[in-house]
Amino acid sequence: MHVFTSIKPMQEISLKLKAEGKTIGLVPTMGYLHEGHLSLAVRARQENDIVVMSNFVNPLQFGPKEDFATYPRDLDRDNKQAESVGVDYVFAPSGEEMYPEDYSTYVEVKGGATEKMCGRSRPGHFLGVTTVVLKLFLITQPNCAYFGQKDAQQAVVVRKMVEDLNLPMEIVTCPIVREKDGLALSSRNTYLSPEERAYALALPRALAAGRQLIQHGERNPGRVREEILRILESSPGIRVDYVEVVDGRTLDELPVLRGSVLLSAAVFVGKTRLIDNIDLEVAPCTAAC
Ligand code: PAF
Repeated sequence: MHVFTSIKPMQEISLKLKAEGKTIGLVPTMGYLHEGHLSLAVRARQENDIVVMSNFVNPLQFGPKEDFATYPRDLDRDNKQAESVGVDYVFAPSGEEMYPEDYSTYVEVKGGATEKMCGRSRPGHFLGVTTVVLKLFLITQPNCAYFGQKDAQQAVVVRKMVEDLNLPMEIVTCPIVREKDGLALSSRNTYLSPEERAYALALPRALAAGRQLIQHGERNPGRVREEILRILESSPGIRVDYVEVVDGRTLDELPVLRGSVLLSAAVFVGKTRLIDNIDLEVAPCTAAC
C-alpha cells in the first residue's frame, strides 16, 4: 500500500491507471477508521481493480463552534487497518495541500436536500462536503465512490451533485455497521463517557420503534415521527436536534409512507452530536395492516 500526501502524484497515478483501463473505487474518509469505514473498503475491493482511500479531516465542513480541532486522528493506525483490507493507495493530504491560502472555489448543491436536517443544524456543512468530495473525485478519478448509509443525507447530496454535474461515476451506499447493542459506529463515539454511551442507545431504540410502527401498518409519517420523538424526549441524557420521516431518495416530505422511507434523527448526548437512521422500503398498506 502506498500513502500519498501530495495531490500531484495521486492524480497522476489515478489518471495513468484509468488510461490503462483499470477501475478505481474511492472510499472517502476523515480517518479514525472503524468497522464501518472498513466495510466500505471491503466492498470497494470486491468491485474494483484499484482501491483508493482518502483520509482527510476536512476543515471546510465543520462550523466555527464544532469539533474540527478535537476530531480524533491516528493516521498510523488507520494505514495499518486500510492495508489489512486491501487498500492500494491512501491519499492523506494536509489542509494547506487541499486549500492553499488563495483557495476560492466552492461547490454547492442548492436548496432541497441540503437545507433540512443536518443542513439546518450545521449551516455550510454540505457546502464543505461537496467541495471536498468533488476535489477528491477529480484527484482520484473513481469509477465508484463508497459512502456509509449512516450519513444518509450526505449520500443523497453527493448523488445529486454527481447527477447535476454529469460526473461519469457511481455513488454506492453501504449499510450502517452497528455495535452488538445497536449503537451505530462513528468516530465521534470515542467522545462518549461510559454513562453517555448508555444514554446514546436511546437513539437506535427510538428509530427501531418507529420502524416497528410502520411494520405494524402505520403509514402516517407524522405519527411515526411523534413516536420516535416521544421516546427520545423521555430518555435521560438526550437532547433532540431533529427527527424526520422522509423520502429516502430526495429527503422530501411524504404525505403517506410508501416506497423508500428514511427515519432519521440527530441528538446531543452531553456535547457529542450523534446521528442515526433506518431506511426501509414500505409497501402500500393493505386491509391486513
Ligand atoms: O463522511 C465523511 O467522513 C466525510 O464527510 C467525507 C465524505 C470524507 C468528506 O470529508
